[in-house]
Amino acid sequence: MPDFAFASCLPGVEPAVKLEVARDRSDLAFAYSRPGLVTFKATREIAPDDSPGSVFARVWGRSLGKIEGASSIPTADCIHVFARDPDVETDLSAWPPSAIAQPGQLVADVIVAPGEPAWLGVHRHDPSRSPHPGGAFPVDMPADSPSRAYAKIEEAIAWAKLPVAAGHVALEIGAAPGGAVMALARRGLTVWGVDTGELAPQVLALPNVVHLAKKVGAVRWEELPPRIDWLLVDVNLAPQVALHEISRLMPKLRDTLRGAVITLKMNDWAFVAELPKLVGRIRDLGLPDVRLRHLPSNRREICAVALR
Ligand SMILES: C[S@@+](CC[C@H](N)C(=O)[O-])C[C@H]1O[C@@H](n2cnc3c(N)ncnc32)[C@H](O)[C@@H]1O
Repeated sequence: MPDFAFASCLPGVEPAVKLEVARDRSDLAFAYSRPGLVTFKATREIAPDDSPGSVFARVWGRSLGKIEGASSIPTADCIHVFARDPDVETDLSAWPPSAIAQPGQLVADVIVAPGEPAWLGVHRHDPSRSPHPGGAFPVDMPADSPSRAYAKIEEAIAWAKLPVAAGHVALEIGAAPGGAVMALARRGLTVWGVDTGELAPQVLALPNVVHLAKKVGAVRWEELPPRIDWLLVDVNLAPQVALHEISRLMPKLRDTLRGAVITLKMNDWAFVAELPKLVGRIRDLGLPDVRLRHLPSNRREICAVALR
């Protein structure tokens, strides 16, 4: 019997998962796809700790196929039951409750969709993966957050375990209306936001927020604070253009910068082929440790975390 691998992903992103696996994993061939789930036939054994074959995978592991009920779930340390499509109302009550996985635990993934047998997989949890069902990073977004970027930055911090701390200084390029600025300001950072757009009044009112109302290309080094610990980039520009714009600021930032969180916008699937080149461009900024992930709040964009 051949082995199979599975990836769960945001519905609609399956083509990106397939393109990356075709590029990087000669041991895998596309087998089956439903919205939010892709499987691959393997030419070798797939272990539960198999490295994710795509940065678009929310959960990656060994695929075991369809099951009819809870009695078919194999023995595991932990069970994760989740909807194949989070936007489709899915009754999970017939399945055992999910738990938070601990490093080293074998997790049984039960992927549920209405009117279909559930899909079963297994993965071994490690710190690079989410301990929550479906690869989630739960965020308690305040009702007055002006944008979902609050969740995006909190997910990035949780996923990459970024050591952001009160007293640090952050600079965000593309900061309006200010969801991410709000999240970092609430954590006690001083946040400088560059954007020609307005920050929401409740963000601007925070005492540790500064707005530079201009385009990134017009920012002069002297206008920036002497120490910047974290750089966030969330402009709606093509990734190559956004990286070009921030490269001009890097000599000023380099001495104190701990890392960057860069949202790379995807216009079409040709973007997937560009990813290795984009990682190279980010490394060239002086940030050699680059990791990519399609986070739960990402849509047609991907999160790059780059550390010194
Ligand atoms: C996705 S929104 C940013 C959301 C924001 N990070 C938040 O937390 O709410 C993209 C922003 O990029 C800004 N932008 C686009 N081009 C820019 C440029 N050249 N310089 C500065 N900001 C720019 C836009 O004005 C827009 O507000």
